[in-house]
Order: sequence, then C-alpha cells, then structure tokens
Amino acid sequence: MHSSVKSNEKTAKKIRGTLVLKVDAKKPEIDKIRIAAEAIRRGGTVAFPTETVYGLGADALNAEAVRKLFEAKKRPQDNPIIVHVAYKEDVYRLARDVLEAAEKLMSRFWPGPLTLVLKRSKQVPDITVVGLDTIAIRMPKHEVALALLKESGTPIAAPSANLAGKPSPTTAHHVIEDLAGRIDIVLDAGPTRIGVESTVIDMTSSPPEILRPGGTPYERLKGILCRVKLHPLAEAEREVPIAQAVSPGMKHRHYAPEAEMIIVEGELNQIIGKIRELTESHVKEGKRVGILATDESLPSYEAHIVKSLGSRENLQEIAGNLFRLLRQLDAEEVDVILAEGVSSQGLGLAVMNRLRKASNFSIIRV
Ligand code: TXA
Ligand code: MG
Repeated sequence: MHSSVKSNEKTAKKIRGTLVLKVDAKKPEIDKIRIAAEAIRRGGTVAFPTETVYGLGADALNAEAVRKLFEAKKRPQDNPIIVHVAYKEDVYRLARDVLEAAEKLMSRFWPGPLTLVLKRSKQVPDITVVGLDTIAIRMPKHEVALALLKESGTPIAAPSANLAGKPSPTTAHHVIEDLAGRIDIVLDAGPTRIGVESTVIDMTSSPPEILRPGGTPYERLKGILCRVKLHPLAEAEREVPIAQAVSPGMKHRHYAPEAEMIIVEGELNQIIGKIRELTESHVKEGKRVGILATDESLPSYEAHIVKSLGSRENLQEIAGNLFRLLRQLDAEEVDVILAEGVSSQGLGLAVMNRLRKASNFSIIRV
C-alpha cells in the first residue's frame, strides 16, 4: 500500500488485494487521485464514480490494459467499451469526421450523461472498440472522474464496474461485491447521483439514433437536434430480433435476476389490482414473492418483500434507486419479482428499458 495513505485506516483498506480509497466526491484529495492515476498509467484497472454509475477504467490506448477490463468483468469479447475524456480536444484524436450535430451535443451536454458514437481514428487499439470502425466517447460530470482523467493524462476506457450480467453499480460497495480481488483500485466517493447509465446516441447514422436511453432524456436531445430516432431496442417494448442490434451491447442480456420477473404496466389502480392478484396466486403455489412498488402504492401490498422505488412523481429518485433495489431483491432469493411500470417520460424511459430487459420482456399491460 502507498505510504501516504497507509496511516489512515478509515480512508484506505485492502479487500482481497484490491485497494479501496475513500475520496471526497466534491473535492477529491489529490494524493489519492495520483495513486489511482499512476495505476492507470502503468496499465492497471481502477473503478471510479461517475455521475451515472461506477466505471471500471483502464488506459484506452493500451491494448493490454483494456484486455484486463474484459477479463475482470467477464465481459463478452464483442461488446465495445465507452472511452471517457476530460477535454473536448481528445475527441478529435480518437474520432474523425465529427459533424456539427455532434459538436452541438458536446457543447450542450458535456460534461454529462451522454455518450456519442463517432467514426473512430487509427489511434485507438482494436480491442477497445472490438474492431468496429466507430468509437463511443463521453465526458463524465463527476469531480473524481475528471480529476482521474486529467491526472492520468490519457483517455480512460470504462465499462460499468459490475460483473457482466449484474446490475450496474451505484455504490463502491456494489463494485467490491462484484470485483474485489479482480481489479487494482476502487475510488469510493459514495453513491452516484443519477443511477442509470449514460444515453448512447449513434451520430454516424442519419438521423442520429439513440441506441440506449439513459441519463440524458430523449426529449432533451430532440430539443437540440431537429431529427433523432429511437432504436426499437432502446425503447424495448418487446424483444427485437438480434439482427437489428446495432450496438453490440444490445444483444447481451444486460441484467437478469435469478427470480422470474414480471412488469405490470398501465394505470396505477389497475397495476395494483393485477399485482395483488399475481401475488396471491404465486403465494398459493408456495413461492416467495418480491414486489417493486412505488411510494404511492406501497401500502396496498403484502408480500415477502415489498420495496419502493420512490415516488411516481419523482423519476430521478426512481432511477437513483433502481439498480440498488434489484441487487437487494436478488440477495433476498425470492422466486418471483413483480414490478410496477412507471412513466416513460424523461429518465423514465431509461428506467423502463432496464426493467423490461431485466424481465426478458415479460410484460403485462392492464
Ligand atoms: O454511464 C455510462 O455510460 C457508464 C459509465 C461508467 O460511464 N458506462 C457504461 O458502460 O454503461 P457499459 O460498457 O456498461 O455500456 C456501454 C454501452 C454498451 O451497450 C456498448 O455496446 C455500447 O455502449 N457501445 C460502446 N461502444 C459502442 C460503439 N462503438 N457503437 C455502438 N455501441 C457502443
Ligand atoms: Mg454495463
């Protein structure tokens, strides 16, 4: 362990060989950032917070370092990784033919939860983009992420810092659960603010196409671009043939709980009625039932476990709680998860996309 942090038990510890450093989310301590940046420069792996979820970072220009990301996460070899930058100038090193519409989005939404898919330059190793001729780039809005990027002096490739198939981590604790012993360092700056991943938009297609709804709402993108398309898989109302999966990540089942999961969508009173009915029939069969409710409906249910995502009026709160509650329900070892659908306005579209995918499109409309 580095000498400058050894003395402080509370802010530095090792878990199965992974160094966990507590950092201030607003004013990250430079000595800790330097330790992490040094690891990045040497080809190591560092989990760090962004405004969306925790990422697992490595030097994007170092093929051997990026290979470690795939290995640590057990990530399928055909799923490309988002490259994070602290400076707009880096985009022009990593990408070519950057059009005006992309520049508009960068100046309006960066730093922030928006990832642009652009044509890739020769500088980027094949493994980072799994041999594609495009590259996904974003500038995160988090002081720790930006400090790490600046101090490392290189763009950082970072998928979400979970084992493949698990919900994305919104706390350092989630990262440790999945990856302790498999990565070098975790920078722990507390829970992330947004809770769902960035929006991924393909700027090489005309009109630009949203491949993954996320932290930057569709409505806001529509307000800036005259034309923008939502990929059918991004909406994920139903399963779409794999052949249509432009974003390699689309065809991987992102997160699937052990339990069977059913989403009930529609008007709230009808949802409540349906979930009560489903609970009763499953309990009769001797099954353990978990319900993902909202504040408004919470008192209406009785089951083995009932959790609220937050108020239906507050989609930010719901997005912020989603992945943590999915992890909790998995840990409770229920047989069935019954989840309420929420509005698909704003951040709701990302929430519904993740829920529908997690249920493998087992959706009941009432
Ligand atoms: O908020 C986020 O985006 C987080 C934080 C850490 O930045 N990162 C994240 O990375 O969610 P990951 O690897 O879990 O998801 C990246 C998504 C995948 O669906 C991947 O297929 C897609 O972006 N992607 C990456 N490069 C692409 C490319 N060149 N073309 C199309 N899709 C791409
Ligand atoms: Mg991920």
